[in-house]
Amino acid sequence: MPIKYVPFIPEPVEGQAVLANFNRVLKYKGADDVASTLQRGMPLYEMEKQEQVGENPDGNMVIRGECVSACAYLKEQGIQVDLVYIDPPFASGADYAKKVYIRRDPKAAKAIAQAEQELDVDELKTFEEKMYGDVWDKEKYLNWMYENLMAIKSVMSETASIYVHLDWHIGHYVKILLDEIFGEDNFQREIIWDIQVLSGYKTIAPNWVRGHDTIYFYTRSEEKVFNKQKQEHRKEYLERFNKTDENGRKYFDGRGSIIYLDEAIEKGKAVGDVWSDIMSFQQIATSTEKVGYATQKPEALLERIIKASSNEGMLVADFFGGSGVTASVAAKLGRRFIHCDVGLNSIQTTRDRLTANGAEFDVLEIKDGVQLYRNPVQTMDKIKSLIPGLKNEDSLGSFWEGAISDSELGTVPVYVPNLMDSSSKLLDKVMMNRIIHQAIPDLDAGVKKVIVYYIDITSEEEIEAFIKEDDSTAVEIKLRDLKTILDDVVIGDYAQFHTEDVHTDLFGGCQVVIDKFISDRVMQKIDDFNNKSRMNATAKRPFKPIRISEEGLELIEFLSLDCTAAEGEWHSDSEIRIDKNGYVIANGSRTQHFWNGGILSEKRPLRLKIRNICGDETIWPIA
Ligand SMILES: C[S@@+](CC[C@H](N)C(=O)[O-])C[C@H]1O[C@@H](n2cnc3c(N)ncnc32)[C@H](O)[C@@H]1O
Repeated sequence: MPIKYVPFIPEPVEGQAVLANFNRVLKYKGADDVASTLQRGMPLYEMEKQEQVGENPDGNMVIRGECVSACAYLKEQGIQVDLVYIDPPFASGADYAKKVYIRRDPKAAKAIAQAEQELDVDELKTFEEKMYGDVWDKEKYLNWMYENLMAIKSVMSETASIYVHLDWHIGHYVKILLDEIFGEDNFQREIIWDIQVLSGYKTIAPNWVRGHDTIYFYTRSEEKVFNKQKQEHRKEYLERFNKTDENGRKYFDGRGSIIYLDEAIEKGKAVGDVWSDIMSFQQIATSTEKVGYATQKPEALLERIIKASSNEGMLVADFFGGSGVTASVAAKLGRRFIHCDVGLNSIQTTRDRLTANGAEFDVLEIKDGVQLYRNPVQTMDKIKSLIPGLKNEDSLGSFWEGAISDSELGTVPVYVPNLMDSSSKLLDKVMMNRIIHQAIPDLDAGVKKVIVYYIDITSEEEIEAFIKEDDSTAVEIKLRDLKTILDDVVIGDYAQFHTEDVHTDLFGGCQVVIDKFISDRVMQKIDDFNNKSRMNATAKRPFKPIRISEEGLELIEFLSLDCTAAEGEWHSDSEIRIDKNGYVIANGSRTQHFWNGGILSEKRPLRLKIRNICGDETIWPIA
């Protein structure tokens, strides 16, 4: 439950020609949810500091939580940002997945390495895991986006800029929202990023090759920071400098005004609003920037935006941060940063990326419900499978998740909130009103009882009283908390380890050696994968199951030792990450060594943290 609601301010810009029309589209069918959400304010939840990386004097933040909850926190803290870049889900209809790589068994790593001179990456054992879903209907998406943009505007400084990265799916609709929220007068440019589709399936369609994304650039007010950016001149332009003066300098005579080639090259060409000179998606896949995040954008794109619309020391925020590209580039350019995302994978990828760059920051978690599982898509998948007896019942309509068959009551429709849709996550009077006056009347007359699950509720007593007071339905409404179901089912990882002293010419300290690691959560996924592969096996592609050794160390991706504190926020005094090929990245530096099953530390460790290959982290005290 939110601690309180923080007002969205300022109000959307009013009085523009498009608004009246657009407001009509904005409303949820039959209800005024958007208007009431805006009136109510941004939900402020508890925030937990999970880790501090370095001294962090600049207050940089990596926040796990929803954009709106992060904005509520920032607003409450009086923090204003100078530049925002967001690359939110595009309403593309896609589910984004992450490849999970089984690491090498440290006990067998040496033998495998000798047998394989070259690693064939495709042969590495992998399975896929859903990261986030991007499936929306347009109206819902726009309502959601409106709330997010209003929240972001509430934390932008008077001279701040915002870049909103979208594409053909929804971009034109969001442009109208942006006009409404920031004002048409504060629209600066529509930037076309030529994503340089050179080959592959996108080129095959019997149509023009779809090859650009759109970035809308707005400012909070007329006043803005803008540093003109330069790029190299085109070859065709430089070829026009075909005259040579008596000193051997090449020049171009444009109707009496002489321009020298060396000066033109030095000055460069002012960058326009069509960007064709930035690394494409396809190039990222083979570049050293690649961190394995499905929708990762190139650093050069963010470098251009950050250099143009902020100065050193300013605060740059990305509320849909994904792979951490904005935070990473901001840190490299001497800006302060805020990274926010709902996905655990995003937070871990960004944390590791920033740590490798030597950045200092805090890792914070907002208790807004999305932290319950790795990410909202997986939480939703899990939730559905956890409600005993819940079966799909298409005839009930899309509002109901399904129904339970009860021998006495017959069909009992079940409502489950959608974590990926912040408007339905919270069970409040508005939602209950909708259930009583819209969803229940749409049901068959024979329905006697419905079950309403919630992740978050304004107040259970208040909602129960609201149901009692409303006598318009005879259907019994039963409230149930989903969190209790999740808490009961998630089984933590298990590690068996010992500590030994290590003294060599180069090192003095100790090593924590992992003897055994068991992760039921990962093993469940591997079993699912094996079962599916068995069923899909053919003579050409015979069934090759993924098998995990008795010790289970192949399921470990990251280890960290805290030598500073035995409880509270984490201090990573020594850490190693094992890359997908089994090589160790020790305290951010790549090595050519396979992992040996241990982690060294000069100081006595007090706690051990292990992250499994799916991203779940568990902490154990070290006696
Ligand atoms: C297109 S990706 C961003 C990619 C990023 N620009 C990059 O270069 O890696 C969109 C991200 O938004 C996150 N997301 C989705 N809904 C969110 C919400 N309500 N609040 C914060 N993040 C959200 C997803 O987890 C995903 O990582």
